[in-house]
Amino acid sequence: MKKRILVVVSVLVVYLLNSILAAAQINPVIPAKDNPFYVLVNKQKGLGKDYKPTHLVVPNVKFSEKGQAEKKHMQYTAAYYLKLMFNSAAKENINLVAVSGYRSYGRQNTIYNHYIKKFGQKETDRFSAKPGYSEHQTGLAMDVSAQSIGYSLTERFGNTKEGKWLASNAHKYGFIIRYPKGKEKITGYMYEPWHVRYVGEELAAYLYINHLAMEEMQTFFDKPKDIELIDSEHIVTPSESNGTQQEALSNPKTEGISEDSFKVVQE
Ligand code: DAL
Ligand code: ZN
Repeated sequence: MKKRILVVVSVLVVYLLNSILAAAQINPVIPAKDNPFYVLVNKQKGLGKDYKPTHLVVPNVKFSEKGQAEKKHMQYTAAYYLKLMFNSAAKENINLVAVSGYRSYGRQNTIYNHYIKKFGQKETDRFSAKPGYSEHQTGLAMDVSAQSIGYSLTERFGNTKEGKWLASNAHKYGFIIRYPKGKEKITGYMYEPWHVRYVGEELAAYLYINHLAMEEMQTFFDKPKDIELIDSEHIVTPSESNGTQQEALSNPKTEGISEDSFKVVQE
């Protein structure tokens, strides 16, 4: 008798657990908008002079320069996933190199004013953010390059094997190509195949699959049932870091910006 009760109870527990799990899958949790990794920084939304991220660390990846410069730092979580991404790339013989990450307000001020003197305001505003308005100040962005192009930050990077790998795989590690080709009017900046921004795997996969810039992320929060659902194949977890190669980011025509139109090393 006792045995029969035990069997019935076990079956009920398994049934109940399965129902709970099934319900959880049908109704995924809608990501909260106040997630700090969703912070939108652009020409309209600045961070202010005093903003400094907490938990800045130097990711343990290959850098184009030696030393412990400010620009080698990144916010802790972003740094962790950057390393994961670089490691996975290396397993496929893709050697990504980090060039420039966190920038304080003061450093962005120096950089921006240097470009203003060199190129004038109109040209500078196409590729460099005003102090207080750079995503680099969040600690969530990293400029990435490759040895084959002398670690330069140019459109040429998009045509290297490293640049192609980054465009096709960054989302699996929670990163997006923040200034995609064809989205210049939306982001406010020219195509930057080298600039990745950490937003977390869910938003990164959503933007990648739907070919959206971060400025277009509203539907991610608004209409979870109408959006193309995130395919779990597009996401890799830290324990499984060599996911399948995905289709490259589509390349809609650029508007007035030609390949390699700007060859200087820029940050
Ligand atoms: N190059 C990007 C837009 C920056 O200066 O933050
Ligand atoms: Zn950048």
